[in-house]
Parts: sequence; structure tokens; C-alpha cells
Amino acid sequence: MKHLIVVAHPSETSFTMALTRSYAAELEKLGHRQRTYDLYRAGFDPILTAEELLPASVDHPAPAHVVKAQDDIRAADVVTVIYPLWWMSMPAMMKGYIDRVFARGFAYDSRNGVVHGLLSGKKAVLITISGAPLPLLMSNGRWNAVQVLQDTHVLRSSGFDLLEHLHFDEVGPDLSKTVAERHMAQLRACAQRHFSGS
Ligand SMILES: Cc1cc2nc3c(=O)[nH]c(=O)nc-3n(C[C@H](O)[C@H](O)[C@H](O)COP(=O)(O)O)c2cc1C
Repeated sequence: MKHLIVVAHPSETSFTMALTRSYAAELEKLGHRQRTYDLYRAGFDPILTAEELLPASVDHPAPAHVVKAQDDIRAADVVTVIYPLWWMSMPAMMKGYIDRVFARGFAYDSRNGVVHGLLSGKKAVLITISGAPLPLLMSNGRWNAVQVLQDTHVLRSSGFDLLEHLHFDEVGPDLSKTVAERHMAQLRACAQRHFSGS
């Protein structure tokens, strides 16, 4: 299978980036092809322009890096999106990627306010990281908000078959080596669960 991993974290030494490298390595170990789109290191421009709100045409072509990012999604069987939860949402870099790349006519169409996903047939995996413990987020309604908006409104609405939303909680600067290793093992198990033998 062909995998596209899209990740947003400004620090290369973050736990988020370590998870990303480990997940990519596990996919390759399982015999899959992967391409990692590291939005910060690639210098992705997340700011959607007025021209992009017009239908793309010869006179108004979509920006080249947006077209390339869409081609990468077209070429992938599975898209894995990885980011830390900032204000219980995605970092602005990832939001800009979604705004620009998951454009109308590519990721969705909308008629009378009803959205139709155009990326059906593709699978997705969502991997998020938070500082707060998951039970707390579940008890105060924030986890439900994440699932409704990010799992369903962004990924499922675009047509993806979301295989799993894997979340790592209580991740911060004092993360112990033991817990970090346990998280890495969970991550590898996720890749194996969905992609070994396929
Ligand atoms: C701008 C910002 C906003 C954050 N907002 C939240 C939040 O709303 N909920 C939460 O649990 N953690 C929040 N955090 C904590 C991060 O999710 C957590 O520290 C991070 O995912 C740890 O992973 P890392 O080492 O890869 O950065 C926030 C961190 C930053 C920098």
C-alpha cells in the first residue's frame, strides 16, 4: 500500500516528530511505501489566498505546492495525519494545509449546504497528542468536540474511511522514558493491526 503521512510540529526533536519517524519506519518494515510530508520543514505556506476561493481555471490555477499536495493524496491509499492538540484543535499549520489542500472540488463538494466527500476509497489514520489526560478530556466534553470536528467533520466528511484515531495523552516535557516506550509500542501495534499482511 502507498501511505502519505502529513505531520505538523515545529520542533524536530518533539515527541510528535519521534512518533512520526517511528510510524514511518514501522510501515516500511511491514513492506509498505510511505512518503512523509513534514509541513514545517517543507515550509508549507498555510495561508489560503483570495484567488483560491475562485474555481481553479487556466486563468486561476491553484498554487503549485497545493496541486502537488493534492496529487500526493490522490496517489496514496492511506493518509495518516499527525499533530499535537493545541487549544484542543490542530496547529494553525495543519489547519492551513486542510484549508488549502482539502479544497472544494478536490476533497468535497457542497450542494445546498450539504457536504459530499470526494476522497472515498481512501483510508485515514489520525494520531494526536495532548498534555491533558484523556479521562479528563472525556469528562468535560472536549474529547467529544475533537471527535465531532476532527474525525468526522474533516476526515469522514471528505470521504475517508477513518481506520483509527490513536491518541497519546499526558505528553509533556517530563514524559518518562518508560511511558514514551509504551507509547511507541502502541504506535507500532496500530500500524501492525491495520497494515500487516495487506
Ligand atoms: C499552543 C499550545 C496549545 C496547547 N493546547 C492544549 C490543549 O488545548 N489541550 C491539551 O491537552 N494540551 C495542549 N497543549 C499541550 C500539547 O498538546 C502537548 O504539550 C504536546 O502535544 C506534547 O507533544 P510534543 O512533545 O510533541 O510537543 C498545548 C500546547 C501548545 C504549545
